[in-house]
Amino acid sequence: MPSDPTGFWTPVALSRDLPAATVIPARTASGSIALWRSASGRISASADRCPHRGMRLSHGFVRGEALSCIYHGWSYGQAGNCLRIPAHPGLAPPETIRVATHEVEEAGSVIWVAVGTPASKPPKLDGLIPLRSLTAFAGTAAIEAAAGAKANPDGLVEIDASTGTLCLLLSVQDDAQTLIHVLLKDDLGPAAAIGASRVAESLRRQAEDLQKKEIAR
Ligand code: FES
Repeated sequence: MPSDPTGFWTPVALSRDLPAATVIPARTASGSIALWRSASGRISASADRCPHRGMRLSHGFVRGEALSCIYHGWSYGQAGNCLRIPAHPGLAPPETIRVATHEVEEAGSVIWVAVGTPASKPPKLDGLIPLRSLTAFAGTAAIEAAAGAKANPDGLVEIDASTGTLCLLLSVQDDAQTLIHVLLKDDLGPAAAIGASRVAESLRRQAEDLQKKEIAR
């Protein structure tokens, strides 16, 4: 995680995992978020808590350009303002009813959410091919140790494998849990992609073993 005191970007998901008109849960250092893409393709990152009774908005649904809560159907726009309260169809929701939002950027094949106020845009990572994301019950130090490499300035841990070069983009979930986005340097076909996925699985297991040994020490 970058140590920029003004803020930093967290890679929360691969673009392919958030199709239009869907919402998924995600996590940054500032807490849980509901990451959603409207029907027209606009991405938003809202706090994962409905201002009404606290239901998780990531359990909700997207209709058109709004995110709706699964509990009583209050819906929110991209800026976090409440658009509609179904139990009071004639009421214009007051401006004070709103959900907190975070700055979000889609760069290449990755969706980034700002924590604080980053001084610059997230890295573009041009030309990399998204493969998959997986969760490791291990911290970044254990993952870097398993990979035998440190993250470069763009936050990528590169691994040369027989199936091509894997680039791991790490997203810290907590001290002992990391979301790993796996990207490939080259498109070498389906067989190489399956092989690269297995390499990533194997690395996850190694990192989790290292993490357990560290805890047991
Ligand atoms: S808790 Fe979300 S609408 Fe009631």
